[in-house]
Amino acid sequence: MVINTIRYKNPNKPKLPPGPKPWPIVGNLPEMLANKPTTRWIHKMMEEFNTEIACIRLGNVNVIPVTCPVIAREFLRKHDADFASRPISVASDIISNGYMTSIFSPYGEQWKKMKKIIAKDLFSPRRHQWLQDKRNGEADNLMFYVYNKCNNGGLVNVRIATQHYCGNVYRKYFFNRRYFGKGMKDGGPGVEEVEHVDAAFILLNHVFAFSTSDYIPWLRLLDLDGHKGKIKNAMRIINKYHDSIIEEKIKQWNDGSKNVEEDLLDVLISLKDVNNKPLLEKKEIKAQVIELMMAMVDNPSNAVEWTLAEMLNQPELFQKATEELDNIVGKDRLVQESDIPKLNFLKACAREAFRLHPITDFNAPHVSMNDAMVGNYLIPKGSHVLLGRSGLGRNPKVWSEPHKFKPERHLKNDESDISLTEPNLKFISFSTGRRGCPGVMLGSTMTILLLARLLHGFTWSAPSNISRINCVDSNSVLFLDEPLTVVAKPRLAAELYNFSSK
Ligand code: HEM
Repeated sequence: MVINTIRYKNPNKPKLPPGPKPWPIVGNLPEMLANKPTTRWIHKMMEEFNTEIACIRLGNVNVIPVTCPVIAREFLRKHDADFASRPISVASDIISNGYMTSIFSPYGEQWKKMKKIIAKDLFSPRRHQWLQDKRNGEADNLMFYVYNKCNNGGLVNVRIATQHYCGNVYRKYFFNRRYFGKGMKDGGPGVEEVEHVDAAFILLNHVFAFSTSDYIPWLRLLDLDGHKGKIKNAMRIINKYHDSIIEEKIKQWNDGSKNVEEDLLDVLISLKDVNNKPLLEKKEIKAQVIELMMAMVDNPSNAVEWTLAEMLNQPELFQKATEELDNIVGKDRLVQESDIPKLNFLKACAREAFRLHPITDFNAPHVSMNDAMVGNYLIPKGSHVLLGRSGLGRNPKVWSEPHKFKPERHLKNDESDISLTEPNLKFISFSTGRRGCPGVMLGSTMTILLLARLLHGFTWSAPSNISRINCVDSNSVLFLDEPLTVVAKPRLAAELYNFSSK
């Protein structure tokens, strides 16, 4: 690899961050294609350059990975306004139906409109309260489902349990239902729900996934890496379930047969502009509803699966967490959202999962709208800044024993409330600034309650043929390599699990 630390002959000219020397036109794309997965190649390259900020030229784009919290804060605090856009990409264009949504839209009026609706109309504290019964119903169904597995040999695929809890909360929130099809008597997902949630994960795995055509636009028609085909197929699956419900609902609101809001789809349809006309068009609603599914299903389920896996290898953590739960909740009732403020050890476990096991290596890209100087380097307009989720969370200059799952590192001396946010960017959970996550309240509640219910309600152990859980990242996204499949036994009285599958 040719090291190119000084990119300009004139020593007074601002320098780009260090990085491999780019080829004409294609930049470092040949190296990127020869070294899959790209995220690992970037981290290895940064190690070789001994740097916490780098510049890689992909086609005509400067990609700037960052693993230093001080520099990350410069980007998202000091220069937040300059770095508040998102890249144009084939995947995000298709998913957002031409940038009609929040996460994927470049900075501009449409992004502002949708972000405001999400923060004020869909996920405000008042709305959170309004939706509590739907969350409770799915937390109870989770207990029912895992309990039924216990009566059936006890082997539980934790990934299925956690992903489908999230999928269920999502469907309850937007479509006021758990099941698209007939449903399952044991509370588990049916074929429709499996297809629905799997399709969302296909979208998540292929968006911002270093597709060649995002850096050499004339390649877009060719779909060389097959990402476009996979995205379109997943969108077809999701639309198959969503479209008829959304269209029927819009019709009902228009003809007056519906006039009471029951879910967030009703809220979106009923929003009005200053002239009392519908604020959102059908295509905006459809795209935003899909994007929010992507926002809701991945992080909580992944954090909880990893936490259980790590705890199985450190049983003393199980003991501490269940002691805390038994002290605060007792064993005569199920843990509730109102218990969350007191469950500090449990929250430290969830924080540790976000630090050590984020679902993706990099945060969603931030695109610069102006040239800026950050960390004494020139970051030219149009650069894609990638804050490293694993790079920050596992940075040995910031964290002692960075690869060890040690929830105690997050406990405070004064026992004040622990939150899952990390505005100092020593790791990334919800990020910060203009493009920060508007789902902190729901995301935290789902993650903590999911973890609390699984730990309070069941004891967990590895199947007899496994001595230790192999806590290894999968190759592309940072899932646990193999879905965690372990044995659950009820800890509480049988009647506490006895919910009918409603
Ligand atoms: C534990 C759960 C969650 C985690 C860890 C999480 C994390 C994140 C992160 C890291 C970002 C990118 C921030 C950036 O670009 O700097 C983000 C963006 C976003 N999240 Fe979440 N999220 C979670 C749940 C949710 C939920 C439940 C919602 C539903 C409202 C949501 C909605 C969004 C939206 C709309 C954005 C895009 C914001 C923008 O581009 O302006 N997230 N989230």
